Amino acid sequence: MSGAGITAERAAAELAAGRTRSLALLAPLDEVDLTRQVSPLMSPLVWDLAHIGNYEELWLLRAVAGVEPLRPEIDSLYDAFEHPRAERPTLPILGPAETRAYLSGVRSHVLDVLERTPLEGPPLVRDGFVFGMVVQHEHMHDETILATLQLRGGPRTLPADAPLPAGRGVPPHDDVLVAGGSSVQGTDTDPWALDNERPAFRRQLASFRIDRVPVTNRLYAAFVEAGGYTDPRLWTPTGWEHLQASCRRAPMTWQRDGAGGWTCTRFGEVEPVAPDAPVEHVCWFEADAYARWAGRRLPTEAEWEKACGWDPAAERLRRFPWGDGEPTPALANLGQQATRPAAAGAYPAGASAYGVEQMLGDVWEWTSSRFEAYPGTRAFPYREYSEVFYGGDYRVLRGGSWATHPTAVRTTFRNWDLPVRRQIFSGFRTAVDA
Ligand code: AVJ
Ligand code: FE
Repeated sequence: MSGAGITAERAAAELAAGRTRSLALLAPLDEVDLTRQVSPLMSPLVWDLAHIGNYEELWLLRAVAGVEPLRPEIDSLYDAFEHPRAERPTLPILGPAETRAYLSGVRSHVLDVLERTPLEGPPLVRDGFVFGMVVQHEHMHDETILATLQLRGGPRTLPADAPLPAGRGVPPHDDVLVAGGSSVQGTDTDPWALDNERPAFRRQLASFRIDRVPVTNRLYAAFVEAGGYTDPRLWTPTGWEHLQASCRRAPMTWQRDGAGGWTCTRFGEVEPVAPDAPVEHVCWFEADAYARWAGRRLPTEAEWEKACGWDPAAERLRRFPWGDGEPTPALANLGQQATRPAAAGAYPAGASAYGVEQMLGDVWEWTSSRFEAYPGTRAFPYREYSEVFYGGDYRVLRGGSWATHPTAVRTTFRNWDLPVRRQIFSGFRTAVDA
């Protein structure tokens, strides 16, 4: 797949799959649930849906084909930069029925454009790039919609989980050595890669060790019980300050079960915290404090990418930990098959060349790195996807979660968020100098 372009057939199939997913996520919700704002961090769900359609119209109809705006008056409403999330519920946004009609109108034009546009020539359409970008954008918002549904609470509106493979009892603190040396980060050739993943460049890294699997609830609970949230020495000064102001004492969804253990709320339903599953809904400050408590540190973004994708024998970066073959349910927990991470050790076949497991799927993994531009990168096709976020207070997350669609993640994919955020499906693993 890497290097080969996105064909028109693939683009059409992936556009359809994304739309099926968006509509299914929102179908069970009534008008009130679709238009209200669950949290100032999130948009009204119907805003996400219309924004998905507006982005598709901007890029696939106007930019690719010069089609006149279908509804010029709505563009500014769905510009994420003109209107911060907190402001979105006060805007005269389209209602649910109008939004669905707008999306299907856009899509039927898009399929015409796709049929008559050769996927070659200018970089926007070459190898199907812009179609891949729009497909991934819809899936990113679908993951955002899932985060909103998690904050909303019950009653649950999502379909029942597919069964996940069982864990393997990976010994706690099992880690693998990644020998130092030169490796490649980023890509020049992947047609799905967004601007911030480009270009590929060489990197020299010292040897390090990295956890074989993400930090589990069992290990994280030990940090909580050991007083991790009350010891300022474990936190950065800003993290400690935020902890005092927010009164956080555990991951976002945890509550005491009354018998010395923990339950958590998942899409409105209370369940025991699964000891062997990766911890979920922790912020960067919490991940960083845990790592310090454990005598370790978060991996840098460069270390994470090397441990995930570098093949030292072939001296090349794999598209996925296991190779270049597309993800399957036996290799990684992606694509919302279930609404939870799988237990540690559930995907031995998905291990990287170094034997690191569950790098893709399950939970997004915080790295120690800030979100910065790669050397020689170029904002494309617009500054607001990545460039305006470089050099800010954002930390990089890698690897996708159970909610991430397989088209929207790979070894090189970069996500970022503020260090206090934990409404995303975020966990981490730790590393140490070797
Ligand atoms: C890449 C997940 C940080 O949701 O803020 C969606 C993705 N960009 N619409 C975000 C995005 C434009 C972005 N993240
Ligand atoms: Fe967006």
